[in-house]
Amino acid sequence: LDGPVAAVPAHVALIMDGNGRWAAARGRPRVVGHWAGARTVRRVVDAALALGIGTLTLYAFSSDNWRRPAAEVQALMRLLRAHLADETARLAAHGVRLVVVGRRDRLDPTLRDAIDAAERATAHGARLRLRIAVDYSARDLILATAAVGAADDPSASAAHADPRAAFAARLGAAMHDVGPAPDVDLLIRTGGERRLSDFLLWECAYAEALARLRRPRARARRRRVRGARAPLRRPPLGRRGRRARRGPHPSHRLTPHVVPRPAPDPRRRGTRRARRPRAPPRARRPARRRGRPRAAPRAG
Ligand code: FPP
Repeated sequence: LDGPVAAVPAHVALIMDGNGRWAAARGRPRVVGHWAGARTVRRVVDAALALGIGTLTLYAFSSDNWRRPAAEVQALMRLLRAHLADETARLAAHGVRLVVVGRRDRLDPTLRDAIDAAERATAHGARLRLRIAVDYSARDLILATAAVGAADDPSASAAHADPRAAFAARLGAAMHDVGPAPDVDLLIRTGGERRLSDFLLWECAYAEALARLRRPRARARRRRVRGARAPLRRPPLGRRGRRARRGPHPSHRLTPHVVPRPAPDPRRRGTRRARRPRAPPRARRPARRRGRPRAAPRAG
């Protein structure tokens, strides 16, 4: 999302996948990819705040994910708990309201308590609503909402006037949200797949979808743009440097910092300008003589 943003999306949704593949490609266990993904969440939230996005929904754990190996499920749950413990104060300080959407009844009680505490601590946040989807299945939620039915809606007259809005409100309540979320404007899937994977089926009816923001060719093209440079990696120092050498995590590609390129110093040798290939030599024109043209030799 570099460069000028024509219209700021009200609601951005992110499917944070590709972690396992990213780690496997580097010979590391899958959970290493999930850790890297969780570290990126902070940067994504910062970018959403800077852009003025109102709602950000992150797909952290789908209801299907319970079928993954027990060790991976456990690691993901631990990661979520650690994330809440580490980030809640910072979110509250930045005006972010955190809401965990999805089923709660299958979560470990300690994680449920951590979620309740984080939601209470950030309840006053008005700049950004950060929804983390955990044990989330859009289909199950739609079924649950439909089963309750409009007849049980406390605001039955509202349901009659705008049944879609009324359904969205009931859907929000079914997933423990604090109110109806706006439709998703932009859906991003970091791993490059082009599937919805049971995520926000109702809210994505008109969403623009992006699978991967930076492909190598696009990156190279952007680098060639004069006057701007977008480093995708941090300087190769210490642990960060080692991480940089392993290559950026899929979701790191979401928020490149655009740094203006300093103007080249024409006095320095070896600048970009000096290294440009020279234009092919022009065909030689007959040399023009300076001064008055000489008188033509007289005939005879
Ligand atoms: C699916 O893709 C991704 C997950 C099951 C986990 C996503 C969770 C995080 C990035 C971290 C926790 C989130 C927060 C908010 C702290 P995969 O990586 O298994 O995909 P792949 O197999 O396609 O690579």
